[in-house]
Amino acid sequence: MWKSVQPAPPDSILGLTEEFKKDQNPQKVNLGVGVYKDDAGNTPVLRCVKAAEKLLLETQSSKSYLPISGDPAYAAAVQRLIFGAKSDVLSSRRAVTIHAPGGTGALRVGADLIHKFNGDAKVWVSSPTWANHNGIFGAAGFQISRYGYYDATTKGLDFNRMIEDLEKVPAGDVVVLHACCHNPSGVDLDGPQWQQIAEVAVGKGWLPFLDFAYQGFGDGVDEDRIAVEQFAAAGVDFFVASSFSKNFGLYNERTGAITVVTPAKNDAEVAMSHLKTVVRTNYSNPPAHGGFVATMILDTPDLRTMWLEELSSMRDRIVDMRRSLVAGLVAQGVDGDFSFIEKQRGMFSFSGWSDDVVVSLRKNNNIYIVGGGRINLAGLTTSNIDYVVQSVAAAMK
Ligand code: LMR
Repeated sequence: MWKSVQPAPPDSILGLTEEFKKDQNPQKVNLGVGVYKDDAGNTPVLRCVKAAEKLLLETQSSKSYLPISGDPAYAAAVQRLIFGAKSDVLSSRRAVTIHAPGGTGALRVGADLIHKFNGDAKVWVSSPTWANHNGIFGAAGFQISRYGYYDATTKGLDFNRMIEDLEKVPAGDVVVLHACCHNPSGVDLDGPQWQQIAEVAVGKGWLPFLDFAYQGFGDGVDEDRIAVEQFAAAGVDFFVASSFSKNFGLYNERTGAITVVTPAKNDAEVAMSHLKTVVRTNYSNPPAHGGFVATMILDTPDLRTMWLEELSSMRDRIVDMRRSLVAGLVAQGVDGDFSFIEKQRGMFSFSGWSDDVVVSLRKNNNIYIVGGGRINLAGLTTSNIDYVVQSVAAAMK
């Protein structure tokens, strides 16, 4: 069967982790995959997660199937988190949420649902975007186009170009937007800019599909919902793919959610019926553990407080690493203004380093960075930052 088949290329992000694991050099540094590391270089299980797991172990009495859409308590907790408990989206019941396997699973379930009814639509992604957006929407059968987003000269947002491009998107097409902590650039929109984007969506009739994988890694759990709030206020149909991989560190529990927001409760019920058919014919029903853990933490005041503290210390450590990286590059006399690194938000920075620099860092210094120059700041620690800075300075000479 496989004799005439060419092997597929490795995944541009997870393939890098495979290479990193094989590397025997003790100085190696992984600035690739978007996974949080503490200052000792470990990806910890959060204390609130350990506490919730202990309680679960004691109280859980069955491993029977979850409903196709997952645990209803999980869906309710997700909605309170992504919209805010007082949002009219909740009181009017015009959104439905199902537990999907991770943020990727959420995007794919959403993509399959849209494809069922509007397979001729194009999906528009930002330039650049997370590489797997192309993979996921492509695999669901969509053609993909790009809208302007990042300005390589200013290393910031090209908002005029973004607006101009989105004004040309035809009604019914799908526009994927990073709700916060843009992956890969770390460049975000502010509140008034989101409001303008929401107005364009309403005016032109395209379908916003928000990827909300990093809530809490930007400015805070409440502050980071600004994009979601603008679309909710607009009263239009939109989708939100969210995930607890990053903000709860539940990476391998595949704990995500797809939320379909509609103008009215009846629409939401129709959407839910079709979401269930999409899931049933794919993975039938979701894994339970991560969802139980997240629900317990969100619904238990002490655990929630502990979580918010742990989340803000992750966020603060990344901001510290941004500062140290900029200070280190300046101290090494590396040519250029690196202040943009401190302005960007979330785990990533689009460093602006050329592919030659990225390849040289991997070959000569065992430092792993995703092609295009995206660095995961959470991979930097007080122990490896000097080595990284010196290596970058040498590679850029
Ligand atoms: C990333 O962008 O590195 C993460 O979202 C992990 C992944 O699945 O690619």
